[in-house]
Amino acid sequence: MGETKILKLLILCIILLYSPIDLAKSCSEEPDGVCEGCTSENDICTMKILQETSRSVVLNNGEKMPAFGLGTYDIQNQEVITYSIVELGYRHIDTAQVYENEELVSKAIKEAIQAGISRDELFITTKLWNSGFENPVKALRESLGRLNLKYVDMYLIHWPIPEFEEDKKTFKKTPMHQVWQGMERCVELGIAKSIGVSNFNVQLLIDMLAYAKIPPTCNQVEVHPYYQQEGLLQFCQKYGIAVVAYAPLSSPARPDGGNGRNILKDPILQQIANSHDTTPAQIALAWNLQLGNVVISKTNNVTRAKENIEAVSVALSSKEMDLIRSLDANEKIYDTQEWECFGNIHAFK
Ligand SMILES: *[C@@H]1O[C@H](CO)[C@@H](O)[C@H](O)[C@H]1NC(C)=O
Repeated sequence: MGETKILKLLILCIILLYSPIDLAKSCSEEPDGVCEGCTSENDICTMKILQETSRSVVLNNGEKMPAFGLGTYDIQNQEVITYSIVELGYRHIDTAQVYENEELVSKAIKEAIQAGISRDELFITTKLWNSGFENPVKALRESLGRLNLKYVDMYLIHWPIPEFEEDKKTFKKTPMHQVWQGMERCVELGIAKSIGVSNFNVQLLIDMLAYAKIPPTCNQVEVHPYYQQEGLLQFCQKYGIAVVAYAPLSSPARPDGGNGRNILKDPILQQIANSHDTTPAQIALAWNLQLGNVVISKTNNVTRAKENIEAVSVALSSKEMDLIRSLDANEKIYDTQEWECFGNIHAFK
């Protein structure tokens, strides 16, 4: 390599290193408090948001997971996903085999890459459904085919419940340690950068840590102000397992979700939101992030997708965090008892 080439590379590196910082500065130091990209005086600076959305959690294998993810369950068109990546700064996209939308996610990834986002910048998660417990490598290869990817950043065991065989009226006998071996094989083959679990409780995690050659990097579970799972969170923190919170707004759009209570209308969250000039949704998301959790939020509405990710710039006081802590009501929305595929059992209550 010639000297001029090296010099050019050096200059490029310096520009790359310093440009985001400069952008952040020019935003906050704008005399009238408005920066480029802000649509109104009260709007939060887009540049600053983009910077903060790159904030990530370091997993126990050294990989980084962006702290704010886009859920895709029930997302109806890929434009919401593409827009969220390209225009709103989402980098972490969460899908699953059972959502039956991996092709849709694949279109959005393709569009985002065409718009100049690189694959490396994206963090893509998909999940193993229980029908694939016997051969996770095969199931992931099928997911990768639908996603049109060479690897996923995260592969999760979706639920710790083996397949329920309707005809036999019983569960398949696939022990979890065997499933995990298959997950570890995915890492060895380079088709999953990280592996983890979802909907695991403390007991299952303790057991897994006893047999795992590769410990789970994360546990994706339901966490919101009405269902805080403090014990599980403490365990995960202590043993280096990142917590990824799903249904952080307690799924207000889910037809069978909730029991009449709506986080978006919670008077305490509303009161905190008023003092920050934000919305209750942003307060609930900021609370989750501030606990150190990764958050997965989903909406079909791009205005709300923007509102959601802007929660990264809301800083709550410890008094406000305590106030939200007092809202815990052990109100779990995702209950396997309603699901035939899991044999209609109460696995978590
Ligand atoms: C999208 O969200 C915004 C903000 O909450 C709301 O005003 C608007 O009505 C929503 N649009 C649709 C189509 O639901």
